[in-house]
Amino acid sequence: MSKKALIFGINGQDGSYLAELLIEKGYEVHGAVRRASQEPKNLENIAHILPQIKLHSADLLDQSSLNAAVSGANPDEVYNLAAQSHVAVSFKQPEATANITGLGLLRILEAVRSYNCKTKVYQASSSEMFGDVAEEPQTEQTELRARSPYGAAKIFAHHIAKVYRESYGMFVSCGILFNHESSRRGLNFVTRKITDHVARQALGLTKAPLELGNLDARRDWGHASDYVLAMWLMLQQDKPDDYVIASGETHTVREFVEATYSALEIPVPIEWHGRGTNEVGLVGMGLGNGATLEHLNKLLETFGSPKFYQGCRVDPVVVVDEKFYRPADVNTLTGDYSKAKRVLGWEPKISFKGLVEMMVESDLNLLKAK
Ligand code: NAP
Ligand code: GDD
Repeated sequence: MSKKALIFGINGQDGSYLAELLIEKGYEVHGAVRRASQEPKNLENIAHILPQIKLHSADLLDQSSLNAAVSGANPDEVYNLAAQSHVAVSFKQPEATANITGLGLLRILEAVRSYNCKTKVYQASSSEMFGDVAEEPQTEQTELRARSPYGAAKIFAHHIAKVYRESYGMFVSCGILFNHESSRRGLNFVTRKITDHVARQALGLTKAPLELGNLDARRDWGHASDYVLAMWLMLQQDKPDDYVIASGETHTVREFVEATYSALEIPVPIEWHGRGTNEVGLVGMGLGNGATLEHLNKLLETFGSPKFYQGCRVDPVVVVDEKFYRPADVNTLTGDYSKAKRVLGWEPKISFKGLVEMMVESDLNLLKAK
């Protein structure tokens, strides 16, 4: 008989990739979706697999809906991928974030405990819990020092998972996942915001500069499709545990911007001028990078009629706006995934460059199709 899985947050980025993986593995896949999100236009990440999924209506804020989803699906495995997952939003809605992202797991654990406490549970913990990082790189043992309401809520959930594991013998594993992205990433996360805007610039759909906040922040970025495999592997073990899932490489937001412009059909060299909120990214003449005159003419044609100063375009293509700064930010993250490699046999396959190229190509195609 095929195994049954229930995914909370199935329509999110990770939920959709995990659903694809579990269908491929022969699972009967159930997904929980908020009532307000059940319109077809809100289910776009799973539209292509909807006929293979059984949907349940549930909200992490409502215990009875979680009980009904768990008893309705009668799952072998439950994956909690649902959350108010945006860090900047968590500063504006701290209470809602604590309730959904923190207490939400407690409610799922109660639903599972009262229905069938043998069900295995996966919790989506986060590298945001490391906050003001205590050491480099971060491991499963690194101190948790949140810098945001989101990070604090994830720490509560991470700890309550351990409490239920130890108090009731439940199988609850936590994946401490570092940032992972894809073409299904929400447009308000920095990577997709960058690839979408640069694709618009490259297609001549906008002349507006890309507005960003903290360019110095460092993240350990991987591809979501690699990371959902680790979630599944965690629930195939005999014992529950916590695992760091990461790429082991760290890059600044500025480097992500440069990689995005480099991934265009005609790579665009970016030169940075100024500091802090005065920093701008300009299309460099690129002569130092071995560009041909033809290359430069094509850049000028694509990016409009420029003015030049010391070999640089002076209309910026990237600007900094302090409205995208956070009250406190996590400055740097780098994960050590050696435990996942040793115990789960897991390793990331898609490189940073490959990730950026895939996201750029997807955004160019999406915009061309519109
Ligand atoms: P996402 O795309 O933002 O998806 C989050 C999902 O949660 C959405 O499907 C959303 O449903 C659902 N949700 C929000 N509030 C809910 C509520 N009150 N009740 C039920 N469902 C609710 O996030 P993701 O990137 O896939 O991440 C998946 C999980 O991993 C999240 O818990 C996130 O915090 C965590 N995480 C993500 C990363 C990353 O880099 N992506 C790293 C570490 C941890 P709607 O469709 O109705 O909005
Ligand atoms: N969103 C956003 N928008 N971030 C910006 C911007 C901008 O315009 N400009 C600079 N940044 C910086 C942020 O300040 C942060 O330091 C970094 O880019 C990454 O921001 P996000 O892409 O929003 O991701 P995040 O790291 O805050 O959170 C993501 O990763 C966590 C794991 O570490 C989310 O997916 C969380 O759900 C996840 O837990």
